[in-house]
Amino acid sequence: MSIDVVREGRVALVTVNRPEVLNALSTDHLDELHSELLDLSRDTSVGAVVLTGAGDRAFIAGADIAELATKTPLEARAYGELGQEIAHRLETMRKPTIAAVNGYALGGGCEMALACDIRLCSPKAQFGQPEVNLGIMPGWGATQRLARTTSLGFAKEILLTGRMVSADEALQRGLVQAIVEPDELVPRALALAAEIAAKSPVAVAYTKEATNRALHGDLGANFVHEADLFAILFSTEDAKEGLNAFTEKRPPRFIGR
Ligand code: COA
Repeated sequence: MSIDVVREGRVALVTVNRPEVLNALSTDHLDELHSELLDLSRDTSVGAVVLTGAGDRAFIAGADIAELATKTPLEARAYGELGQEIAHRLETMRKPTIAAVNGYALGGGCEMALACDIRLCSPKAQFGQPEVNLGIMPGWGATQRLARTTSLGFAKEILLTGRMVSADEALQRGLVQAIVEPDELVPRALALAAEIAAKSPVAVAYTKEATNRALHGDLGANFVHEADLFAILFSTEDAKEGLNAFTEKRPPRFIGR
């Protein structure tokens, strides 16, 4: 197996484990990652997911270039759509996804990190979209998510030059939320995931769903959507429990409905 999944309480740690090629993703690896993420998204015992890469050099160095070189246009389309589906699942699954970027996050690796809700990285992380150097372009969402995460001008500079972005610059640009020492990176990501996973899963899911609309569509419609989700939460036992627990000065016990 090249995608390792380990559970700790309500948190799942997903590790792309192909360090000999800096965790580059072939179609087989994408299929495995796709399937694991689908299982985790459906598993109500999992409250948060952390994504990282094996070894001390790379998060994910992108699509497998050796495989890419063999593709016809139709095969490239299918490959692009598969990567987009995985990124979409990371972004929209009803539980938080946290990228622990422990090294190179290039091409599709940067795109998978961008699709996660929160990004932490080690000081030696390097981000980039070097596709233009290969005579191709990003296909798993970077042309949209990089600008929405940082700024249009920065995104265009990175996409058009293919240059790498250091951890410090990534932090300065809002591409990551924090830089964490290598030994502490995955533990910190797991602790953050556990903190969120301890809350009401339905409140977390709806908060994520509403926030995902922040940079899309019509603001008025998004406020209506937020109000609707806010109202729906008042039908849950978790909302009653959370509000009562505050009044009774005790910790809440959430059950996810
Ligand atoms: N696809 C397939 N193999 C890859 C890969 C990728 N995206 N990225 C790295 N590898 C392989 C290398 O071919 C090499 O394999 P080898 O030992 O059999 O020769 C191994 O991983 C180690 O990489 P190497 O290039 O020797 O390490 P480095 O320290 O000199 O350079 C990088 C590291 C990340 C700068 C360099 O590997 C790189 O530019 N990779 C491609 C990144 C990229 O363009 N990604 C987007 C793809 S669309």
